[in-house]
Amino acid sequence: MTGTPLDADPGELLRIAREAAAAAGRLLASWRRDGRPEVIQLKSSPTDVVTEMDRKSEALITGHIRAVRPADAVLGEEGGQTAGGLLGGDGPAGPVRVRWVVDPLDGTVNYLYGLPDWSVSIAAEVDGTVVAGAVFVPRRDELYSARLGHGAWLSSGALDWRGEDTGSPVRLACNRDVPLAQALVATGFGYAAGRRQVQGDVLRAVLPRVRDIRRGGSAAVDLCSVASGTVDAYYERGVNLWDIAAGGLIAAEAGAQVTGLQGRPPSPSMTLAAPPPLLGELHDLLASTDPERDA
Ligand code: IPD
Ligand code: CA
Ligand code: CA
Repeated sequence: MTGTPLDADPGELLRIAREAAAAAGRLLASWRRDGRPEVIQLKSSPTDVVTEMDRKSEALITGHIRAVRPADAVLGEEGGQTAGGLLGGDGPAGPVRVRWVVDPLDGTVNYLYGLPDWSVSIAAEVDGTVVAGAVFVPRRDELYSARLGHGAWLSSGALDWRGEDTGSPVRLACNRDVPLAQALVATGFGYAAGRRQVQGDVLRAVLPRVRDIRRGGSAAVDLCSVASGTVDAYYERGVNLWDIAAGGLIAAEAGAQVTGLQGRPPSPSMTLAAPPPLLGELHDLLASTDPERDA
């Protein structure tokens, strides 16, 4: 066992996040049956699905974390929050310090259709601050990772199953000084029709003011794309903490500001990511559309 609530070294947490993300990504990528993975649950709408593989991936990740850090809390998209088994909670050992925030398969619709941009996203919070995050994109063989204050990094094309670097990781930096009119902006849409209606209205205002829009299908990948400069900015209403915890740190460590509107932190209400001054331009445009509402 390597972890206790007092043992919250971000480097070690990142190592665990990378290892778990790589293992889960390999599991998801190994699915070889004909046709699509079985849809086993509908969530907020008939198009908001959970497959057997979302569940299997989360079980693998949770099992991995529990095996090495049994005291930590885990917040997983499918399983909700579970406290640590041994020393967690507000017991004699005090409150849990480390919480893992897990999206076991971000981009389920892409996965279902055989599109390549889906990911495993794992972040580690210490006392409520994300200090380490890993996003693995198996179909691109790309592992994005960041540790608070230590930059964002991309390992690609040379990963063994543990997520170790066998090649040279590249330090990521957002595109700088891109005016809004030249910006390639990633976004996404929720699953509920009433939310999408407003998101369409917002998009109608944004589209004529930017270079173009990309709808990649994985919020975690979108944030990593801001970090790597394959898009200039990202915004979305309706994301959850597990969508943005790891990717948000990766984007921030590459030079982006990751915020909500009007100085608020990123949240389900609205999340934006871009380096300044583009962030300010995008913020003001979005704010003018009153985007934090549903029809
Ligand atoms: C979704 C993806 C998508 C975003 C949605 C998310 P899921 O996550 O990140 O890009 O637009 O808001 O819910 O359902 O594939 O884990
Ligand atoms: Ca997600
Ligand atoms: Ca998911």
